[in-house]
Amino acid sequence: MCGIIGFAGRVEAAPILLEGLSRMEYRGYDSAGIAVRSDNWGLQAKKAKGRLEALYGLTHGGADLDGPLGIGHTRWATHGEPNDCNAHPHISEDGRIALVHNGIIENYLEIKENLLRKGIRFTSDTDTEVVVQLLGYHYQQCGSMLEAVGRVLRRIEGSYAFGIICSDYPNALIAARKDSPLILGYGENGNFIASDVTAILKYTRDVSYMEDGEIAVVTAESVDVFDQELTPLDKKRCRVDWDVSAAEKGGYPHFMFKEILEQPEAVRKTVSPRVQNGRVALDGFSMTAEEVRNLSRIYIVACGSAYHVGVVCKYIWERLLRRPVEVCLASEFRYSAPLVDRNSLVIIISQSGETLDSMAALREAKRLGGRTLAVVNVVGSSIAREADSVIYTWAGPEIAVATTKAYSTQLVLMDLIGLYLGDLLGTVPGGEYEAILKGLAELPDKMRACLDQIQEMQYLGSRYFNHDSVFFIGRNLDYAMGLEASLKLKEISYIHSEAYASGELKHGTISLIEEGTLVVALGTHAALFDKAMSNVVEVKARGAEVLALTTERYRERMEKIADAAIVVPDTHPILQPSLGVIPLQLFAYYVALQRGCDIDKPRNLAKSVTVE
Ligand code: F6R
Repeated sequence: MCGIIGFAGRVEAAPILLEGLSRMEYRGYDSAGIAVRSDNWGLQAKKAKGRLEALYGLTHGGADLDGPLGIGHTRWATHGEPNDCNAHPHISEDGRIALVHNGIIENYLEIKENLLRKGIRFTSDTDTEVVVQLLGYHYQQCGSMLEAVGRVLRRIEGSYAFGIICSDYPNALIAARKDSPLILGYGENGNFIASDVTAILKYTRDVSYMEDGEIAVVTAESVDVFDQELTPLDKKRCRVDWDVSAAEKGGYPHFMFKEILEQPEAVRKTVSPRVQNGRVALDGFSMTAEEVRNLSRIYIVACGSAYHVGVVCKYIWERLLRRPVEVCLASEFRYSAPLVDRNSLVIIISQSGETLDSMAALREAKRLGGRTLAVVNVVGSSIAREADSVIYTWAGPEIAVATTKAYSTQLVLMDLIGLYLGDLLGTVPGGEYEAILKGLAELPDKMRACLDQIQEMQYLGSRYFNHDSVFFIGRNLDYAMGLEASLKLKEISYIHSEAYASGELKHGTISLIEEGTLVVALGTHAALFDKAMSNVVEVKARGAEVLALTTERYRERMEKIADAAIVVPDTHPILQPSLGVIPLQLFAYYVALQRGCDIDKPRNLAKSVTVE
């Protein structure tokens, strides 16, 4: 979490830093700060608790801080509550060095005690301040910033992306990274560092990705990168082809709403280039039939919504591949002694490609000798670069903290990968391969039909927004879809919500159903529709208010029994979750809107979870 940015240029830095931070606020938004160096004033820093608007106000849009060199930070608190003191940048005791940090310094307490013994005073509760004070200490000893940075990096443990400026260095900022993302940007009026490409897209599309252990010295004219022994390195430049407008709201009230609406097109972009002459053609990943046959295990590993994609896939892939598929939470994977060996395929799904737990799972899988495949949205992200192979979801930038289009593109891409593997094994049931591809081709139009129900969803949002507790129930793929629908609702509306496999209700949870409890009953899975109906009857008999989701085929039957019904088009059964999830995203959106929640930036959350 947290976003950092730095600029060394020929124009005023502060407005550029603020603009960049505004693009990264999704990474953390409990406080923000910038530090700028000028010949007249030396180092000047301003920080403000709360949203970035507070910092904009405090600095009059950056006008109060002049100078062409600076760093900025938007925070998601880990060590120390969100307040002005704990906000970054942190400044060395002698006031000469300012530093911003994304990550966690694990041995900070021990270093802090040493520094306290040397008489250095601290002003915050953060792990980060320890780094800047240690840097100040070494700089005083050796007189060279680069040397001092090297010494600090050898002493600290944990994850970091740093941006550093020093009052004695009028033109240069220093950056370093380990296990937290950091890119270098090459602009016309100066050069950048940033946690995320969207922060600098307005100024440049030419970037390099910093690797673990690298240190960069960035000036207006040059970007020099070194390894930890300060040996110069040659960095490859890449061109980012994301559309700037894709990272802007463009008149929509919220990014989440815009991204929900973008789903048909995102799904089309992800699927259509990968179906050629009626066959799945995956870029960047291939296996032989023998390799697939020899697979001892298939793991799908991810967090949050990406994990929910894995749960849907388990049902689908086991049907297409006739093989066991294990879905694991990335945060559990590496502590569970996974049975990965050289014949295992480990698939990591991640929108950001930076989620720390997913990254750690990937490394564990590699350490155990497994073959790894990343399904990632952000091009050039750490997971994408470290996995043996990567296939990108082409969802474009996703800014809202609650994922929508990344989830949908992950789902269809995993459908394609499942078909590809099943085809190699010869296990896809007769006619299914073609039927699923046909269904995938029709999906964008059917998704548009789901989006046509915006008014109905708005109405349902206002009808049900004041419930305190919601249960999503369903079986099989409906259950898997319910996990995601429930997460969407709880994360943005703060309503307590649970997803239950309907059959489990009577093993305990049904005792929570009372007069008026809202149950969202998912009944889109044709093979189990009758059972879904029985569960609706069961909860209604106990007083539940039932909002049902079904398909056109079952509209009449469902409408007779549920209190309200959402209806989506029919499609191939394994693709049904790709349609069902859309009205449920809208439902969560409108409920949150009615409750006055901050939809794009829900409390306590951040988009990119780069801490454990
Ligand atoms: C929920 C959500 C999160 C992410 C999870 C993984 O709306 O967005 O649950 O799915 O944090 O993030 P990525 O996909 O970036 O690894």
